[in-house]
Amino acid sequence: MTTGATREMVGAAFAGRYAIPAFNVFDDFSMRAVLQAAAELDSPVIIQVSVKTVRSLGAAYLRALFLARAREVSVPAALHLDHCPERAVITAALEAGFDSLLFDASDRSYDAALVETREVVEQARGFGAAVESEIEGIRGVEDGVGSEEEGGRYSVSRVGRFVAATGVDFFAPAIGTAHGRYSAAPRLSPERINALVEATGIPQVLHGGTGLAAVDFADLVGRGCAKVNVSTAIKEGYLRGGYGELRNAAEKDHWDPPRFFAAATEAATEAARTHIRMLGSAGKAA
Ligand code: 13P
Repeated sequence: MTTGATREMVGAAFAGRYAIPAFNVFDDFSMRAVLQAAAELDSPVIIQVSVKTVRSLGAAYLRALFLARAREVSVPAALHLDHCPERAVITAALEAGFDSLLFDASDRSYDAALVETREVVEQARGFGAAVESEIEGIRGVEDGVGSEEEGGRYSVSRVGRFVAATGVDFFAPAIGTAHGRYSAAPRLSPERINALVEATGIPQVLHGGTGLAAVDFADLVGRGCAKVNVSTAIKEGYLRGGYGELRNAAEKDHWDPPRFFAAATEAATEAARTHIRMLGSAGKAA
């Protein structure tokens, strides 16, 4: 494995018009599940964790776990902090050695977001880490961060000025996707991706990957979404897989935790395989 490479991985994907899957994990088993899928399909992969997971397990522990598990596979992997509005958590992740982070400033005004994002980029550069930026609220709550309403969108030229002034590496725009399951087909604004790529010159990040159709992925990736976040599908796979085994255990009245974790892990691996295939990253691990 090679680590520390979020920028290189996403940059290569952007140039080649495929996307790096960024899977949210929450423990050792889910981390191994997505690394296993990436290894089987020879795909680079980003492992990401929420602020909630950092609070529950600790940034240093997550980094050590990531390094131990990523060493077991031969594909490029990086560790990323997802949606983080809190500067103290960003500092903890950088000090622990995370490769990249999403500074989520969508709760700030444009001017405040600009000042703070510039500071975060400067701080991250000192650690060699990459910064993803979000200033437009993407609908849906991800592990306690976010809102059920989509926030306002900025004009493409304002986003262009923001990216130039802050030096962020990737931008996560609002284009109609949402975190969690879709209750109705999303109304996407794919042309916004082309305009943002044109205005900023940097890779765009697609949030709300769970539940999008293969044709939408192909279209959005082709336009310049080079990192695609998938969380709910991994969590659902894990818990549904585990639940099947729990029912089995109850039927037999035989309670064996390793069987529970094996079933949960395999189902999460299958969810990751499905997404890797749709994002075109299979076979791209150099
Ligand atoms: P989903 O839970 O819809 O896959 O979204 C994940 C995400 O965008 C994490 O930032």
